[in-house]
Amino acid sequence: MTQSTVQSIEALTQTALDELDSIDDADSLEQWRVRFLGRRGELTGILRGLSQLDLEERRQVGALGNQAKSGLEEALDRRSQEISQARLAQVADLERIDVTLPGRPVATGRLHPTTQVVREITDAFVAMGFSIVEGPEVEWDHYNFEMLNIPQGHPARDMWNTLWVDYVNEEGQRPMLLRTHTSPMQARVMEQVQPPVRVVVPGKCYRYEATDATHEWHFYQVEGLAVDEGITFADLKGTLYEFARRLFGSERKVRFRCDYFPFVEPGVDMSIDCFACDGSDNSCRICRGSGWIEIMGAGMVHPQVLAGVGYDTEKYTGFAFGLGPERIAMLKYGIDDIRHFYSNDLRFLRQF
Ligand code: DAH
Repeated sequence: MTQSTVQSIEALTQTALDELDSIDDADSLEQWRVRFLGRRGELTGILRGLSQLDLEERRQVGALGNQAKSGLEEALDRRSQEISQARLAQVADLERIDVTLPGRPVATGRLHPTTQVVREITDAFVAMGFSIVEGPEVEWDHYNFEMLNIPQGHPARDMWNTLWVDYVNEEGQRPMLLRTHTSPMQARVMEQVQPPVRVVVPGKCYRYEATDATHEWHFYQVEGLAVDEGITFADLKGTLYEFARRLFGSERKVRFRCDYFPFVEPGVDMSIDCFACDGSDNSCRICRGSGWIEIMGAGMVHPQVLAGVGYDTEKYTGFAFGLGPERIAMLKYGIDDIRHFYSNDLRFLRQF
């Protein structure tokens, strides 16, 4: 009896140690502990059987059993430490920086196509001596219309579908709006400074508009204004011609035709000759066969506008112009729908 118990303790110890050697994770280690050293474990089972031995045998075998138990416990501790050290080494390995690897590319942002084109446009005028100014997007009727020779009830107000701000003054009027164009800055600038004036005004505008491929309810404009002694229509033509060539190529031709805007007299629209088909393609997507592409409105500043800000109309004349950068970008890059600009589709934006 004693002999066989001794043998089984020795055999069990050997098996346990052998198995322990091949364990290399914490879960299996715990299973091993439960199996050999747990309360219902194999060694505990053998030691329990000791009660059937007589006193002397119990003492001997008991001592052997306890020795085996603490031997296994020590082995367990050692293995457990080895496993956690190996794990730490593995983590350190993963975190080690290999300085010879190429860097991970950083995802960079870029300028919105409108911003790029606005800068290109303003750069062209800055090169001709204009300064850049900006103004408020929430504007008074006074600047958006009145000071531009468009009084209350003037039929030309229908040219600008207006988004009114829901604010009523003491007289029961709604005098505040989202600016429908950048032209109000003409009056704001002239109120502040005396001629010579040479400014361009990039900025956002808003209109109460059903949207389609060529209409957005918000968009950008770049306004221009030059006032001084002796400015003539020739200055307007020369400046805008230079601008057109700079943006669309030095071989560009321009065309001016009469148009109506209440704040200029005479008023014109300016076209460039079609760079896509030279007017030779009747179904040209860009000029529709006309050979010409309208790119902006312009004119000589109306004396009424100059007088409104207190300028001497005998002494000073000027020209003004306004253009839409999205339209310019659409022409330059062949974009077929203005709604792409502000729909936040990265597939579109990443192309610029
Ligand atoms: N403000 C006009 C618009 O939104 C564009 C324009 C036309 C501006 C002629 C000008 C100008 O300064 O002279 O339709």
